[in-house]
Amino acid sequence: MSHTEQQKALFLQSKQGEFAVGLHSIPKPGNDEVLIQVYSVALNPVDHKIQEYGVFVENYPAVIGEDIAGMVVEVGEGVSNFVKGDKVFTHGDFANDRAAFQQFTLGVVDFTAKIPDNLGYDDTATIPLAFDTASTGLYNSNKYGFGLTPPWVLHGIGKYSGTPIIILGGASAVGSYVIQLASLSGFSPVITTASLAHEEHLKSLGATHVLDRHLPASALQNFLRALPSLPKIKFVYDAISLPETQQVGWSLLAPKGRMVTTLPELVKEEEGKERQAIRTFGSPYVDENKELCRGSRGMISKWLEKGIIKPLKYEVLPNGLEGIIEGLERLKKGQVSGKKLVAHPQDTR
Ligand SMILES: NC(=O)c1ccc[n+]([C@@H]2O[C@H](COP(=O)([O-])OP(=O)(O)OC[C@H]3O[C@@H](n4cnc5c(N)ncnc54)[C@H](OP(=O)(O)O)[C@@H]3O)[C@@H](O)[C@H]2O)c1
Repeated sequence: MSHTEQQKALFLQSKQGEFAVGLHSIPKPGNDEVLIQVYSVALNPVDHKIQEYGVFVENYPAVIGEDIAGMVVEVGEGVSNFVKGDKVFTHGDFANDRAAFQQFTLGVVDFTAKIPDNLGYDDTATIPLAFDTASTGLYNSNKYGFGLTPPWVLHGIGKYSGTPIIILGGASAVGSYVIQLASLSGFSPVITTASLAHEEHLKSLGATHVLDRHLPASALQNFLRALPSLPKIKFVYDAISLPETQQVGWSLLAPKGRMVTTLPELVKEEEGKERQAIRTFGSPYVDENKELCRGSRGMISKWLEKGIIKPLKYEVLPNGLEGIIEGLERLKKGQVSGKKLVAHPQDTR
């Protein structure tokens, strides 16, 4: 690959500005990086929030996007576990040469995994950000999570057997992976809230109880009271973290319990309860998450192959990179339920 070559990329042209397809040079892989020809990318709420609020990204024009699947076309120095032709998925970074919404990007090998034969580019593009956010919220022990033992370390699987967990927003991307990981960790019951249209699917991922997400906190409390011999709720993962879901989660949490949020925590502690709200952060690139994300990447291809972890449902957007613009509008308006939107950068006209 000649690195004077240009590729098509979707640029956020200025802070809080508009998106437009333009040309970007194809980067060269450095140490421990691979160059990936990108066949599928997934959209995330953070992508439209970057545009709307001007957060996370400093340099413009910016290429953004965190969920990447494609083929390795070149390997950098020191790379021994990937070769040209490998099909991989990786977690993008807030940096133009490592972001998703373009035809070629760099993958950092520690946070890149091979796609098993039973899955494709679109399936695995649904994994990186949502999975890493689920995983850091449950297992990060520095400051982004409960600090539980992850299921990829010795004796991790089933370790929390008999411990209940409540996951608010089980049909969201993050929530769907929290259900799967919590269930691998042995939590039981795994109680989640979602639109009831998703009940069967969420049960197939490991939820034991799916409650209508429109119910008030009092109805959820009544449901919990009616469950025979349910231990106190010490773990709530609020995948949605709107002010109202945080209030619901907080009200279900027993004294000394902890609640993970995906957005800034808004709840106030009452005297004597000693509860804690922890805002997670799903990027593998911060020091606090590196070891954890390396650990899960070491295991995830095998879990996907065996169906122990299932990727998310998805809808493919038309028109390559250009199609992402409308997809982000749909996400912003809350018009996407129980699936990821994915786009194919190679189909850009
Ligand atoms: N801190 C981080 O590092 C980090 C990382 C990733 C995401 N996030 C944030 O986490 C949130 C979730 O992200 P995501 O990608 O998982 O979202 P998503 O998949 O786009 O979420 C869509 C789903 O949210 C569900 N939902 C909406 N309002 C709900 C409510 N009040 N109660 C229960 N479910 C509700 C809908 O469920 P139904 O279909 O059941 O109606 C819908 O399926 C976003 O705010 C995102 O920005 C933060």
